[in-house]
Amino acid sequence: MKRPTEIPKADGKLAVLLPGMGAVATTTMAGVMLARRGKATPIGSLTQLDTIRLGKRTENRAPKLKEFLPLASLDQLEFGGWDLFQDTAYESAAHAKVLSNEHLAEVKDELSAIKPFEAVFYPEYVKRLHGTHVKKAANKAEMVEAVRADIRKFVKDRGCSRAVSVWCGSTETYLPPTDVHASIKTFEAGLLKNDPGITNSQIYAWALMKERVAFANGSPNMAVDHPAARELAREVSVPVAGKDFKTGQTLMKTILAPGFKSRMLGLRGWYSTNILGNRDGEVLDDPDSFKAKEVTKLSVLETILEPKKRPELYGDFYHKVRIDYYPPRGDQKEGWDNIDIVGWLGYEMQMKINFLCRDSILAAPVVLDIALFLDLAQRAGFRGTQEWLSFYFKSPMTAPELQPEHDLFIQVKKLKNTLRWMMGEEMLTHVGHEYYD
Ligand SMILES: NC(=O)c1ccc[n+]([C@@H]2O[C@H](COP(=O)([O-])OP(=O)(O)OC[C@H]3O[C@@H](n4cnc5c(N)ncnc54)[C@H](O)[C@@H]3O)[C@@H](O)[C@H]2O)c1
Repeated sequence: MKRPTEIPKADGKLAVLLPGMGAVATTTMAGVMLARRGKATPIGSLTQLDTIRLGKRTENRAPKLKEFLPLASLDQLEFGGWDLFQDTAYESAAHAKVLSNEHLAEVKDELSAIKPFEAVFYPEYVKRLHGTHVKKAANKAEMVEAVRADIRKFVKDRGCSRAVSVWCGSTETYLPPTDVHASIKTFEAGLLKNDPGITNSQIYAWALMKERVAFANGSPNMAVDHPAARELAREVSVPVAGKDFKTGQTLMKTILAPGFKSRMLGLRGWYSTNILGNRDGEVLDDPDSFKAKEVTKLSVLETILEPKKRPELYGDFYHKVRIDYYPPRGDQKEGWDNIDIVGWLGYEMQMKINFLCRDSILAAPVVLDIALFLDLAQRAGFRGTQEWLSFYFKSPMTAPELQPEHDLFIQVKKLKNTLRWMMGEEMLTHVGHEYYD
């Protein structure tokens, strides 16, 4: 990643393409529409609300991120997407029941105009869904071409100057990369041969990257987390990021665990359980899809606490994560955590957290920020994995030889320092010795 000398302005409309137009995608779209009409505040979004300190504390320079950076404005965004159900964004949002009827009525016309393209959907990767709004093609290579045609059509019809994409589709069954994912060459041969290792989300990601559209992955799928995708992202110069939006219980874990570690408090066990009743919950009721989610959720504590470096505190903790599908609760997930910690001389303590959250309300600002930052990264000439966006993900993608950073506070520092560096500002060290020397 080279420091950009000049970042082109965010001129023209930006297409925000969201494969999977379910609860998260439609809550994001509706929220942007409400915010740009001044009918609601985009709470949770750094790009819309946060400031950034620049220079010394005595300089009192803390502009809003959206004033400091050449970001696209909400007015410039044009939403599109794909789904295996043909519901418009309005119908899908009404079905998801995340937003109130009053909020939806306010933007009904705009949402109703967003109709999904037909999906690439090989059902073996998402066993609980049965949709009919799907593409037909002789092989996976043709599917890639069909998605590329959709992208070009959308960008042309809506008069956009460029596009970004964020995967908001369902969690697929857990399938680690195989030989077919080794390189661009093997992957493209696999597409022609309908290789079973190539999933729906990988087909979209491939098509989007081929169209030079930056791609972020909001689910635990291996959409771009494999060597062939890394090679393509570098070759065609697109930024990619992932994976699995950090919201709800995992967000809380990455806030609390760094606190325990900072104060050298030990951990004996962390039991987390959730009930949720939205379509995401239904998909995750399938053990193979849950496996993918479990992998991203479990990795968090190990990497924050680093048991090998501190065996006396974290050498033997028990970590369990459960998700149960419970339809009456809809999108209003409830999570319980029981945390067994130990203090001075090994005395035990317990903490219980009962988080009554709203899944898509926490995810929507994340989707918006990722879309705007990816667009910025693309204009700044960044390519490949964007580790500085780890802040937004449960299982941050990194170079293969690196450990991901999960600590939310380190992640936000990294994000803001990257932005300072990108804009030619001094990075913050927090040393501050000059005030006392
Ligand atoms: N807080 C959160 O809500 C949160 C947090 C982390 C990750 N996620 C992930 O984000 C994704 C979206 O969550 P959601 O609550 O909106 O789920 P959802 O079930 O409401 O929406 C997903 C949509 O994707 C569609 N879909 C599935 N496969 C597709 C394909 N191949 N092509 C096109 N569309 C396809 C489904 O039909 C559905 O409409 C899920 O993978 C979820 O695990 C959500």
